[in-house]
Amino acid sequence: MAERANNGAAAHPSGDERFGVLEKALKRTRYSQDQLIEILHVAQGVFGYLSEDVLIFVGRELRLPLSRVFGVATFYHLFTFDEPGEHGATVCTGTACFVKGADRIVDALAAEFQISSGQTTEDGRFTLKTARCLGSCGLAPVVVIDGAVRGHLDADGVLEVVAQQMAADADEEAGDPPPDADDAVAAGATSEARL
Ligand code: FES
Repeated sequence: MAERANNGAAAHPSGDERFGVLEKALKRTRYSQDQLIEILHVAQGVFGYLSEDVLIFVGRELRLPLSRVFGVATFYHLFTFDEPGEHGATVCTGTACFVKGADRIVDALAAEFQISSGQTTEDGRFTLKTARCLGSCGLAPVVVIDGAVRGHLDADGVLEVVAQQMAADADEEAGDPPPDADDAVAAGATSEARL
């Protein structure tokens, strides 16, 4: 096990405090190897993705071979191994959304950012993903943009929302007040929940 810091959190050579959060989850689950999936969930929540460093840490703490940790992590599609961009869109390509034009949305985003599904732009600004049914078929086509579920948007509407999100971010960095939340939602968009 990694060396413990004074606050009980594991000391990680990187000094990254997020490992301390992960250590608390490990402690809560009593370092049980049966809780590997739960721990990987927590790790992804804390780090946003599962880096090799994180997988090694989890394996060491649970006394599991790295091959087992990698094997479990790669088996489940909900785990991701690449650092996501600052902004991102996940387009549902399930049947209901496909019928309502999800493929056109994927194509429009891919063309706009010059990336394919599963990729992040070189500058790390945007990640495009696709997913199977997100369970909100009544809103088809469904796109999750920066964690918010948007429905009933066509390709142009999605591009507009993404552009507004990125512009709001740029304004914030420049110190300008963020726009009214309502303005950030294109006509027809529905914000249901944050993922
Ligand atoms: S098919 Fe897209 S939410 Fe169900």
